[in-house]
Amino acid sequence: MSKATAIAHPNLAFLKYWGKRDSTLNIPINNSISMNLDAVQTVTTVEFNAAFANDEVVVLEQGGGGRARFDQRVSKHLDRLRSRAGSSLRARVITRNSFPAGTGFASSASGFAALTMAGSAALGLDLSERELSILSRMGSGSASRSIPDGIVEWLAGDSSDTSYARQLVPPDYWQLIDVAVLVSAEEKKVSSSEGHELAMNSPFWPVRLEALPGKYVRMSQAIHDRDFITFGRELESEAMMMHTIMMTSAHMDGDAWRSGIYYWTGDTLALVQAVQEWRAAGLQVYFTLDAGPTVHLICLETDREAVVSAVNMLAEQSGRAHWSLTVNRPGLGARLTDAHLEAR
Ligand code: DP6
Repeated sequence: MSKATAIAHPNLAFLKYWGKRDSTLNIPINNSISMNLDAVQTVTTVEFNAAFANDEVVVLEQGGGGRARFDQRVSKHLDRLRSRAGSSLRARVITRNSFPAGTGFASSASGFAALTMAGSAALGLDLSERELSILSRMGSGSASRSIPDGIVEWLAGDSSDTSYARQLVPPDYWQLIDVAVLVSAEEKKVSSSEGHELAMNSPFWPVRLEALPGKYVRMSQAIHDRDFITFGRELESEAMMMHTIMMTSAHMDGDAWRSGIYYWTGDTLALVQAVQEWRAAGLQVYFTLDAGPTVHLICLETDREAVVSAVNMLAEQSGRAHWSLTVNRPGLGARLTDAHLEAR
């Protein structure tokens, strides 16, 4: 088979990957934990053909910049797959996201997971889940976690072969809901890859390093025990700790000195404050955010409707008609499909 198509979902980090031990291989500082988001996805078709002179990337229905850089990353990733298969064929990659890139859904995660799965199948490689996770990681670290099903842990490891993701619990283990509130469709100004490099500039970095092993143990245990309150507190504290690191990662931006990176907008802050109030009023909801302004509200299935109504009411009362909501449950990992995409 020289053509294959794969579907992969973005994942939402519960315990974050922020800071790398090796930035060429994307080996992280710490173990991380995430959930695949079932309502949003990337579909990617890869075809290798002796008639193609160059790699070509066609992105369907997606606005936004950063294309040249994206194409380069894809081509570099195809080289990894080609060298694995001993092939020199060039490829056409057609890809479609069901969500805008760079806004808090990790498009690079689903993108590189789908590319790895489709590309390796198109080259006739028969790879294990672990091998697929390792290869995806080299494209984008968080993509390693979009390979297995459900709620997933990425073991940091200390070499390329030991740094991979595996399932923590299957998708139906726990009825967790993510109400993702997209507050802005604008692409972020500082990419995650750039942000990772700046993390160590924060004066709070040593505090984070010390806290990480305990966070991993407590969060995995809370998930296994389906202990929502412990989980929610860990989740929200973790998001705040990562964003504290980001907001205090001083750096030069050309000639301009910046005291840190802000992925938040005013709308992000409004939601973060609202969640605290809703919880004080008895609603069991917690928030987390990745490297973008999108706020992810985490609750149990039993509180889904109440959380959605609370967000809609806040949007209406504060004149924020542009917010858009996506309700996600724990999703499957990357998989092949017969429905190939066609370039238009
Ligand atoms: C904030 O995986 O996008 O979403 O490995 O450089 O491609 P690269 O970075 P990326 O970083 C994701 C950062 C995060 C946290 C997380 O997903 O754990």
